Amino acid sequence: MSTPESFLKRMNRHLAPTMAKDFPNLPVIGEEGCYYLGLDGRKYLDFTSGIAVTNVGHRHPKVVEAIKAAADRFLHGPMGVIVYESALKLAEELARILPDGLDTFFFGNSGTEAVEGAIKLAKHATGKPCVVSFTGCFHGRTLGALSVSTSKSKYRKHLHAVSGVYQIPYADPRKCPPGQDVAAWCAEELERNLERLFHHQVSPEEIACVILEPVLGEGGYIVPPRQWLVRLREICDRHGILLVFDEVQTGFGRTGQWFAAQTFGVTPDIMAIAKGIASGLPLGVTAASRELMRKWTPGAHATTFGGNPIACEAALATIRVIEEENLLARCRQMGAYAREKLDELRKKHARIGDVRSVGLMIGIEIIDPTTGEPDGETLLKILHRCADYGVLFYLCGNRGEVIRMIPPLTVTRDQIDEGLKVLDRVLAELDNGHPVL
Ligand SMILES: Cc1ncc(COP(=O)(O)O)c(C=O)c1O
Repeated sequence: MSTPESFLKRMNRHLAPTMAKDFPNLPVIGEEGCYYLGLDGRKYLDFTSGIAVTNVGHRHPKVVEAIKAAADRFLHGPMGVIVYESALKLAEELARILPDGLDTFFFGNSGTEAVEGAIKLAKHATGKPCVVSFTGCFHGRTLGALSVSTSKSKYRKHLHAVSGVYQIPYADPRKCPPGQDVAAWCAEELERNLERLFHHQVSPEEIACVILEPVLGEGGYIVPPRQWLVRLREICDRHGILLVFDEVQTGFGRTGQWFAAQTFGVTPDIMAIAKGIASGLPLGVTAASRELMRKWTPGAHATTFGGNPIACEAALATIRVIEEENLLARCRQMGAYAREKLDELRKKHARIGDVRSVGLMIGIEIIDPTTGEPDGETLLKILHRCADYGVLFYLCGNRGEVIRMIPPLTVTRDQIDEGLKVLDRVLAELDNGHPVL
């Protein structure tokens, strides 16, 4: 008989250790809405959304129905050998929900592939060799995407990243000197950093694109001021550099609009999309204007599985559900509600250093209350204890010091209350020196 212990044993025998050691390795037998169904017979409130994927909830009935119907007709569609309506419809729908100008799409299978596509397209379209990325950003695990990722050095160990990549610091509102306007200071810092880069290391004529997450994700959930992104757009335009947004995590409603580009009112030239797009089926998209995509000559880039017909139907159903259930507005409402509750918790618990959020993309920084230093070790204990009480949070930050709270956009007030009550309880247990912690 399968037990949680036998699951873990089998996992450790045959799954690569690199993939078999993430938090919390919860043995499950199913998933539904905002919950995982544990092998232990318990229901777990999921504030991870399968790492920002199940934005409409796990196994939304309309998505499941669309997948079943699609499987009755197609399982595989190598685009190019054949063409089918779901891929065409999805491209039309994406053109409708994305900011104006992003109307042409390359379909892949994952976030990292969407980023690879974005970088390749930028280099191909401009004929320039170099890329600028931001310290702390995460863009994926294949070599090109990894070369622009610096959220943690362990991801890059023993690898020689591709050449021609330059790093500059991400916006850090916390570093703003007292008395100065945070947004203006961040924008000026950006300008100074890029000018320094252009003068000392690489001239703008050699730079194909600047790539970033419009909200820092894996690196610690940092929300940049809008002015910072506006300034970046201006600098790119001034120098003829393409701007790439990696919206793999911020996309599909997570920040309260379809994409962070709309939340901040800044449109990139190229966008990478994945995660929430197909509610769990593998699908990645590189988006750009027709004009730019035309420069990517036929055959310069392709893939066997990209734009799989079932994944395309799942994506179409996901878009319908987000609209029918008004989930963008709901994300903003529930995000504001959770934020209010967390600001209260922060006043109560000295271990909460900072709360940062946009929509339902929420980061809760855990610090050592005596030193004020980030405390990833304690955070992991908190996550395990919350899981014991039936609530799953995830983590992020360079030192694993930020609790990632990314519930499905369908989350209710009661579920937010339930999850945060558990967090409150665990933090209180820590303060009281509970033996398990
Ligand atoms: C912002 C961002 N880009 C890219 C990726 C890579 O996506 P995937 O794991 O689907 O390759 C991730 C995954 O966490 C991500 O958060």
